[in-house]
Amino acid sequence: MMGIISRSPTHRKPRESMRLIVTTFIGVIFGFFIGVSFPKLSITKLTLPYSLLPSIDLTYIEDKYTGSNTLSFTKGSNRNSSQDQSLIDSSKIWVPSNPRGAEMLPPGIVEAESDFYLRRLWGKPSEDLTFKPKYLVTFTVGYNLKDNIDAAVKKFSENFTILLFHYDNRTSEWDEFEWSKKAIHISARKQTKWWYAKRFLHPDIVAPYDYIFIWDEDLGVEHFNAEEYLKLVRKHGLEISQPGLEPNKGLTWQMTKRRGDQEVHKVTEEKPGWCSDPHLPPCAAFVEIMAPVFSRDAWRCVWHMIQNDLIHGWGLDFALRKCVEPAHEKIGVVDSQWIVHQGVPSLGNQGEAQTGKAPWQGVRERCRKEWTMFQSRLTNAENTYYKAFGIEPSNSTAQ
Ligand SMILES: *[C@@H]1O[C@H](CO)[C@@H](O)[C@H](O)[C@H]1NC(C)=O
Ligand SMILES: *[C@@H]1O[C@H](CO)[C@@H](O)[C@H](O)[C@H]1NC(C)=O
Ligand SMILES: *[C@@H]1O[C@H](CO)[C@@H](O)[C@H](O)[C@H]1NC(C)=O
Ligand SMILES: *[C@@H]1O[C@H](CO)[C@@H](O)[C@H](O)[C@H]1NC(C)=O
Repeated sequence: MMGIISRSPTHRKPRESMRLIVTTFIGVIFGFFIGVSFPKLSITKLTLPYSLLPSIDLTYIEDKYTGSNTLSFTKGSNRNSSQDQSLIDSSKIWVPSNPRGAEMLPPGIVEAESDFYLRRLWGKPSEDLTFKPKYLVTFTVGYNLKDNIDAAVKKFSENFTILLFHYDNRTSEWDEFEWSKKAIHISARKQTKWWYAKRFLHPDIVAPYDYIFIWDEDLGVEHFNAEEYLKLVRKHGLEISQPGLEPNKGLTWQMTKRRGDQEVHKVTEEKPGWCSDPHLPPCAAFVEIMAPVFSRDAWRCVWHMIQNDLIHGWGLDFALRKCVEPAHEKIGVVDSQWIVHQGVPSLGNQGEAQTGKAPWQGVRERCRKEWTMFQSRLTNAENTYYKAFGIEPSNSTAQ
């Protein structure tokens, strides 16, 4: 069901780069199995200093995967004692500081991170890239909103890699736009922005980009300039941000509302009783999920918090603050570069009608359900963590 839809030869490059990603995934999975089968060995038999091995990692691996034979169909299953023995052999490579799973490789060959830079098929690899964009912007798109996306993309300079996630299986039509030929296109039908982000924006894949924009398709960008936006983000030390939203009828949160009189704001006042703490969402440390911008480091954390099955991302906005410290200073809204949320129902209409309900109703219900599920998973995870240390969870962590 996944794949770059690109029958035309002009699209060969995107397809090449996706193959790279798929290969990386396979590599990660393969490495993972190897890693799972060896960590005990590395401690008990090699008597390496513990400090070389992150203990949390090992506990995690052992607790979660000990005895799961179904997983050990690669190297682990036909490992035998004479092979184990060979690890002690100092002529064999074992580098614990390598990425997990790649310990058998000499560090000089390990390339732990990748990118979306398109290469050519000929010439010297070192001369492929005349220019490396420093920022990444992704839009989750359907062809019906092509003109809006065209306008949006034009607000992003050549310093941006453009990545489109297509949920409607229409990708080649986009080639009517000149910029589309240099963009990366990923197609999987009827999936959400957070589904794509989890699968295709692994922190190691987007590592070269200073900032990552993960945007919806229905944003009006007439008053927005991406380079200017990032200048303000840097100036005000924002790790997670969004442009202010033009106040209009659809607004629910004060925090993301644009203010006319300043560059950036990080706190706001809400309706009485909505904020138990002025430094917590929705009064601070909060942006919405429609147009977030992450620094590389913030994204490295947020990616891990995104749940594979909770694809609408509801509730994520309230939890972003877990990834930056102090959150009320590093999360904020840029007022002087602002956008309009047009609220065009698009993917929402691609649900399925069930028992007399309109498609969008089913989607909306699932969004709400996911929000509750995410909240309770996060609360449970935190409680479990604190209890393990004999600490009574403080009430504020559960929010
Ligand atoms: C153990 O591994 C060695 C080296 O790979 C191999 O020669 C030997 O046949 C294996 N023994 C068993 C019992 O699988
Ligand atoms: C792209 O980035 C370079 C280096 O930071 C900067 O000099 C240039 O002005 C940027 N391009 C645009 C269109 O802002
Ligand atoms: C996707 O689009 C292609 C080309 O337009 C078409 O051949 C194919 O049947 C479509 N796939 C699905 C699942 O609709
Ligand atoms: C947490 O909330 C419970 C019930 O609301 C209360 O009894 C308890 O004292 C609170 N604990 C802390 C640390 O605030």
